[in-house]
Amino acid sequence: MRWIDSLEAAAAEKLPEPVHRYFRQGSAAGVSAAEATAAWAAYRFRPHVLTDVSTVELRTTVLGTPIDVPVMVAPTTLQRQADPDGEAAMAAGVAAANSVLGISSNAGTTFADIGAVGAPWWLQIYVVKNRDVTLRMLDKAVAAGARAVVLTADTPVVGRKEDEGPTVWDVIPEGHLLANLDEYSDEDLGKADDLTPDVIGWLAERTGLPVVVKGVLRGDDAKRCADAGAAGVIVSNHGGRQLDGSISTARALPEVAEALSGSSTELYVDGGIRRGEHVLAALSVGARAVFVGRPALWALTVGGSAGVTRLLGDLADELDHAMRLIGVPTLAGLSPDLLDL
Ligand code: FNR
Repeated sequence: MRWIDSLEAAAAEKLPEPVHRYFRQGSAAGVSAAEATAAWAAYRFRPHVLTDVSTVELRTTVLGTPIDVPVMVAPTTLQRQADPDGEAAMAAGVAAANSVLGISSNAGTTFADIGAVGAPWWLQIYVVKNRDVTLRMLDKAVAAGARAVVLTADTPVVGRKEDEGPTVWDVIPEGHLLANLDEYSDEDLGKADDLTPDVIGWLAERTGLPVVVKGVLRGDDAKRCADAGAAGVIVSNHGGRQLDGSISTARALPEVAEALSGSSTELYVDGGIRRGEHVLAALSVGARAVFVGRPALWALTVGGSAGVTRLLGDLADELDHAMRLIGVPTLAGLSPDLLDL
């Protein structure tokens, strides 16, 4: 069996059942979570033949940071359930693969400990009702070397998970969540549900960092973000964990790519990406790089930081192979012309 496909079952053996369920589940009826990967598999390629593919080049940059492969790790919570060193172990695995990772604002490891690992990392943030709480977190992230702020915009309220039996919140130990928040009340942490594109400029000004908006599924919204100064946009439906029934990211991506064409705002995508062919489709539509969420949690659980490095390496190897088969050896050569849209 392909190693990546074996990961979830192997992780399920090691994780408490509510944690495994939390990692895998979507919100509500789970429609968007269930269809994400199938939507990538629905793309059809129009390969070139008789081109020189003896050398394939996968290196690129994201917001100016060089990466060896256009696959990054998405921000996810509860990584200390997957590995005792949590986000620091994830960062070490990403560093060895020369990629970039997102760190959740709910992380269970301090930004200082994550920054000390040396992987380039972007802070994912939920702007909360008490802006002072958000500002204190931003200051810590800047001090610890975060290279960008990823504003998660699809979570004015948290999507409901329909659990039966004990949930993850019943089983996680103290200290596995919110290691970077202090002096707050539960009310402070309510998600701000009155955000407008102005928040992009506010975040950029307060941090001096590029701001990437995560959770965009429409071309018009991508344009609003770009016009408001976003350095990047992540097409995402939060792994099917926010509005259930949201369009799959594979289907949303072409419209967003069209809306951002000619703009300097970088385009990324996540959700259900599990194979090199899925990465190839995303890059051909117009994404600069992709993120993987759950596969990195499974890989961290099963193999620690070395597992994360292997995951990114295997996806790089599959992408390399698929690029030879499609007859295009450079990322710059990928375009929608290679797809039967
Ligand atoms: C997430 N995701 C997420 N996103 C975010 O912006 N902040 C967060 O704290 C989290 N936490 C989180 C926890 C878990 C367990 C999962 C599975 C996901 C969403 C994540 O960044 C990403 O959008 C999806 O995981 C991508 O889909 P795949 O690759 O998991 O299918």
